[in-house]
Amino acid sequence: MKPASVADYRELARRRLPPMFFEYIDGGSYAEATLRRNVADMEAIALRQRVMRDMSQLDLSVEIFGQKLSMPVGLAPVGMAGMYARRGEVQAARAAAEAGIPFCLSTVSVCSVDEVAAAGTPPWFQLYMLKDRGYMRELLGRAKAAGCRVLVFTVDLPLPGARYRDVRSGFSGATALSGALNTAWQGMTHPGWSWDVYQNGKPHTLGNVQSAVNGGRRVTDFLGWIARNFDRSVTWADLDFVREVWDGPIVIKGVLDPEDARDAVKAGAQGLVVSNHGGRQLDGVRSSISALPAIVDAVGSDLEVFMDGGVRSGLDVLKALALGAKACFLGRAWAYALGAGGQPMVEKMLGTIRSELSTAMVLTGCVSAASADKLLLDVAS
Ligand code: FNR
Repeated sequence: MKPASVADYRELARRRLPPMFFEYIDGGSYAEATLRRNVADMEAIALRQRVMRDMSQLDLSVEIFGQKLSMPVGLAPVGMAGMYARRGEVQAARAAAEAGIPFCLSTVSVCSVDEVAAAGTPPWFQLYMLKDRGYMRELLGRAKAAGCRVLVFTVDLPLPGARYRDVRSGFSGATALSGALNTAWQGMTHPGWSWDVYQNGKPHTLGNVQSAVNGGRRVTDFLGWIARNFDRSVTWADLDFVREVWDGPIVIKGVLDPEDARDAVKAGAQGLVVSNHGGRQLDGVRSSISALPAIVDAVGSDLEVFMDGGVRSGLDVLKALALGAKACFLGRAWAYALGAGGQPMVEKMLGTIRSELSTAMVLTGCVSAASADKLLLDVAS
């Protein structure tokens, strides 16, 4: 199949990846109500078609923290991408650089921040607050030294949400023996992935936390360590600790409530991502797109407001901009494309998003992404 839409990359990833990785990407928490809501609420928004306006000059670019993005899109932090394609984070970072947009590297990436930075452009760096503050300090220092400028501090994961699909697929909760047998079986039945990732994509460790996990050999050993080390005691005061080490822009990721957004401003953040972690944390919360307008009203003039969750096309990007986001981030869209075929597929997917966004801008009479506003929407929707 030649992929034409994000749904097609998803299908290709489903065929190529061992189920434990496909289900990890595709799934959400509990009954996945929020995961579905992210997509459904986005779909329900109607764009307002306008015609016969000279749309020969379009400007898709936006400027964020002094960096010009070729379109208002970034790649959200996605853990373990190096298990979806050989050295997956490096491949995705290169695709993002090629497209002129930022790539945000997860704390729990296979490739370390040094490896990704050395392969091209230093990424944005995503931080999970772990109990070991000494280690946090060291990790932030490494990201800084690698040339990362923007820190994305994820605040909606003081503990991991329950993801039932991961249990069913054997990704989590298995004993060492059954886990190893299951992995071997899933690998044997997915030879393309086995050759690319299992044989040629080693080491399969989490590069950023490797030195802290003694004796870890498999990715699941690392996930166990991380799950034990998430810090539930974290508060806004901890941002002071981060600020001591980080002098660049700090973006708070995982805000759904306007009061939390105001607290993020008070704590000195430069940006926030309206996000429910792609429906992977507290199932039952509202969709990101429905949370966006109230947050923009509350803090939109104080810091940069971004969103993620349910963005599956360039049309969705324009809807998010119309509701006040400065840019949006793609999560599953790029993870599917990477799983479908590495960097070339991520590049192709981003090309699709760009051309869909252009089409939407032309047919709504929006000449520049930076000036998108509510007038692009059909208010009756
Ligand atoms: C994520 N997300 C995520 N977020 C984060 O801050 N750190 C991380 O390590 C991860 N890991 C991760 C893995 C996978 C497989 C997925 C799908 C997502 C959440 C991600 O950054 C983003 O918030 C959502 O993916 C956005 O929703 P969509 O675009 O997937 O609908």
